[in-house]
Amino acid sequence: MLLRPEHRTKLDETNDTDFYSLPRFVTHVDEGFIDRLTQLYREELTPNTRILDLMSSWVSHLPDDMEFDHVEGHGMNYEELAKNPQLDSYFVQNLNKNPQLPLKDNDFDAVTIAVSVQYLQYPEAILAEIYRILKPGGKVIISFSNRMFYQKAIAIWRDNSENGRVELVKKYFQSLSGFSTPRVLASQSSVPSFLQMLGLAGGDPFYAVIVEKII
Ligand SMILES: C[S@@+](CC[C@H](N)C(=O)[O-])C[C@H]1O[C@@H](n2cnc3c(N)ncnc32)[C@H](O)[C@@H]1O
Repeated sequence: MLLRPEHRTKLDETNDTDFYSLPRFVTHVDEGFIDRLTQLYREELTPNTRILDLMSSWVSHLPDDMEFDHVEGHGMNYEELAKNPQLDSYFVQNLNKNPQLPLKDNDFDAVTIAVSVQYLQYPEAILAEIYRILKPGGKVIISFSNRMFYQKAIAIWRDNSENGRVELVKKYFQSLSGFSTPRVLASQSSVPSFLQMLGLAGGDPFYAVIVEKII
């Protein structure tokens, strides 16, 4: 087993549904991060395909100048998802309680998870589901920075370095068969960490791990 039970614990073990019951119409990373992510989506996603934005909110960061056949959203708060103009439809589900996605096999061209993977207590189960719903050749793009709701991130994420988190996400994929070798994009912050903590713009490091479903 990739993660031991103590790796999956959270400081706040109350139900995630309660934590997300009120909408948060904020962005969780700075403009530089978001621009970089949107550019990555522009390069990696294909127009007129089917996208699942897993662990979404009122924003999906998809390029406004790209048309998709369908963008399905998933999240924890209906009000946030209802306000997201990029979603064609959406559902709410606590993936730490129920990892089974209510979606058909081999039906999506790409799955995105933006700044949220640290909240998954059973990432292997979720990636197995993502594998099931992706078409052969379909892509997964997981992006993250160093910000988080600390009390809701799993212990192994909280206690890791930024490089350690990249390795962890790679291992999540490598623990399952059928995904390609992960590709990593990484830019550490150019701003010293004490200035990052003060919220200086442009300081959020950018990490993305990208894989394809190969078989
Ligand atoms: C920091 S927000 C990021 C939202 C969005 N992807 C973005 O880029 O703004 C974290 C998101 O993780 C998702 N999330 C957190 N805990 C979850 C859980 N137990 N089950 C499913 N999704 C969860 C929710 O959709 C929540 O909005």
